[in-house]
Amino acid sequence: MKIAVAGTGYAGLVTAVCLAKIGHTVTCVDVDKEKINMLKKLKCPIYEDGLEELMVQCKNDIFYTTEYAEAYKNCNVIFIGVGTPEKEDGSANLEYVYKVCDEIKSCSRSDKVIVVKSTVPIGTNKKLELYMNNNSKYKFHFVSNPEFLSQGTAVRDTLNASRIVVGTNDNYSRKIMEELYRPLTKSPYNVPYLSMNRESAEMVKYASNDFLALKISYINEIANICEKTGANIDDVALSMGYDDRIGKKFLKAGMGYGGSCFPKDTKALYYLAKNLGYELKTVSSAIEVNLYQKQKLINKAKEDFGSLENKKVAVLGLSFKPGTDDLRESPAIDNVNMLLDYGAVVNVYDPISIDKFKKIYKNKINYYHNIDDTIKDCDFVFIITEWKEIVEYDLNKYKDLMNTAVVYDGRNCYNLDEVLEAGIKYYSIGR
Ligand code: UDX
Repeated sequence: MKIAVAGTGYAGLVTAVCLAKIGHTVTCVDVDKEKINMLKKLKCPIYEDGLEELMVQCKNDIFYTTEYAEAYKNCNVIFIGVGTPEKEDGSANLEYVYKVCDEIKSCSRSDKVIVVKSTVPIGTNKKLELYMNNNSKYKFHFVSNPEFLSQGTAVRDTLNASRIVVGTNDNYSRKIMEELYRPLTKSPYNVPYLSMNRESAEMVKYASNDFLALKISYINEIANICEKTGANIDDVALSMGYDDRIGKKFLKAGMGYGGSCFPKDTKALYYLAKNLGYELKTVSSAIEVNLYQKQKLINKAKEDFGSLENKKVAVLGLSFKPGTDDLRESPAIDNVNMLLDYGAVVNVYDPISIDKFKKIYKNKINYYHNIDDTIKDCDFVFIITEWKEIVEYDLNKYKDLMNTAVVYDGRNCYNLDEVLEAGIKYYSIGR
């Protein structure tokens, strides 16, 4: 099939490359000229394991352009994968989705199936379909096809997805979508294919992400009680996970969730429900717990040191999780802001996202490419991201290199006995 994909962010680009991998001919469209130029040179603009290799492997079946008319003209299926960032009130901003729709309409010379991958509020596909078919010579069929990939494992998550969810409103687009995804539903991929109405498909995305956000906030609250009672969250979470009804994943206590999805999708569903006259109390609690959790390390440091003025602090790990250079909603941003407000001197380290961080903080903080230099002569350390380099760091070096070996670990990277043996003053979450 000939397919166009609008937007070359995580969802758009990974979808495009994976569709090429399963035999389709794909054209990616983006307004960002710099990004398209990189892609044309087969350079991946995002840090994502295996994506560049797959781009190279599929280079004969995937094209990149900034000319939308050129891309949409010859395709009867168009995927929309542009961002739906949160507005100030927490609702989803659909400006970019509408812009792509207008562009599609302006250059269409035949009927189109438009597949919405972007996370959009429930009811959006229906609204878009009415909007596009108003006074139109051609028919636009809207399909909801939410994206479940995690950053860092995006290619694997797409080719070996837990499920493909497709919401349609008519037989024509239902058949097209079945044909398009058929290679993924067969061996060797064998991905389950779930067909439903569009509202349900739109809801699956929010319901799944918000459930995971709830699960994390729940385990973080249990961790907070563990700290007060002498229980150890590692043992508690491990034992809970053996119950299949609970499951082992997403029970890692820490300093809260970040990234481009959970913070945005929890607020968006809360806002959507509120507009329908329903207060989504579970989700609003998850949001509240997450804010509290992000401030745990700084509150503990203030308790221990009193004033943080002129304290020399090392922040290890900046991206919202390991395996990505994405800083969106990373607790590192909140914590560095607070440390600067309290007058601390801040050194930062991250194996991948240091240059991105530099663009935000410029000369306000100090940047390092290794842990040794970052922690040298520091009064305390904050661990924000559990990068392998940080988890495997020689614990004795904290004592050797720091002014005072005090480590606040927001990701429970180290074994408690080993930390004790290394003579570090150590605070982690729920242990
Ligand atoms: C998430 C969803 O997993 C994915 O299905 C969806 O499509 C997009 O949003 P992503 O944001 O890439 O993916 O990251 P994920 O691995 O889910 O982690 C999100 C956040 O939760 C991270 O900040 C991570 O540190 C935190 N987390 C995760 C925990 O604190 N504890 C856990 O047990 C798991």
